[in-house]
Amino acid sequence: MRILGIETSCDDTGIAIYDDTKGLLAHAVHSQTTIHAAYGGVVPELASRDHIRKIIPLLTEVLKQADIPLKSLNGIAYTAGPGLVGALLVGASFARALGYALKLPTIAVHHMEGHLLAALLENPAPEFPFIALLVSGGHTLLIEVSELGRYFILGESLDDAAGEAFDKTAKLLGLGYPGGPLLAQLAESGVHDRFQFPRPLTERPGLNFSFSGLKTFAINTLKNTEGSFQDRADIAWAFQEAVVDTLVIKCKRALKETNHTRLVIAGGVGANKRLRQKLSQFIKSIQGTLYYPRLEFCTDNGAMIAFAGYQRLKRGEKDPLEIKVMPRWSMDTLKK
Ligand code: KG4
Ligand code: ZN
Repeated sequence: MRILGIETSCDDTGIAIYDDTKGLLAHAVHSQTTIHAAYGGVVPELASRDHIRKIIPLLTEVLKQADIPLKSLNGIAYTAGPGLVGALLVGASFARALGYALKLPTIAVHHMEGHLLAALLENPAPEFPFIALLVSGGHTLLIEVSELGRYFILGESLDDAAGEAFDKTAKLLGLGYPGGPLLAQLAESGVHDRFQFPRPLTERPGLNFSFSGLKTFAINTLKNTEGSFQDRADIAWAFQEAVVDTLVIKCKRALKETNHTRLVIAGGVGANKRLRQKLSQFIKSIQGTLYYPRLEFCTDNGAMIAFAGYQRLKRGEKDPLEIKVMPRWSMDTLKK
């Protein structure tokens, strides 16, 4: 079975082909970073227009990389949500039209299920059950994954997502967009422990997160300095430590409460080196195992959508021809 995956939920156009006997045959991502950087964030209309421009050239590129004809595909998977409605509609209309023309089953994939399953593309892949920490620009979720499609949300962010907090704090430190990786880079020059940021919601029980206060804490800390490069680097370090420690504390708690020892990290913030370092130290201490997708599959890509779509298509699921997107879509409602 050979599945085409199409991702257009935000500012990356991703296309990939997954084959159940040979694995991933090809994948390509076009990032729109340079288009949105001038505005300090994603401009939805510009995102939709760029997806339209890039989707066919990317498909051609991926077919060439895989060295297979379009007619050898057996199914099409596309991101139906959550995400920006206009951007989602580009991928959805394209996938449905192509499916209709080629008489192939088409399946709507939940973007976060894509992120969640991306670690299963790696070798060794995590076995079920496990705990997943999904940390992206739009979501922060701790999920108990009992099996494919059986997701129980243990905790989530009550305000800003972890990636969003990174991006907003980066912006106030004068960094570009997307700020997460730039802030992480600036933190490398930071003096450790000059500033101490809070670890929100860790003092009380529960697995929810709240990151918006850290941004305010960063603003106030910055105001009390001269705002030099070193001041900003020290704040970046302290901010990153606070987010990372908070995520580690909650993962620890989630594993303890559920008696699981396997932890999967996914989503853009999963690319953060300090997070990976601290989580792997902790996992070693409990003799558990940490899994994560390769760096390029932490951020948005078509491979995770092709793979998640394959898992559902192989079970005989498919969606009617109607072009439907769900800008807001809870993982709780996914088919088991
Ligand atoms: O999963 P993703 O590519 O898109 C969404 O579905 O949101 O995640 C993007 C987020 C952005 O907020 C970006 O700043 C953050 O992931 N990010 C990072 C790093 N790389 C990407 N945050 C911290 N450290 C990084 N190295
Ligand atoms: Zn994402």
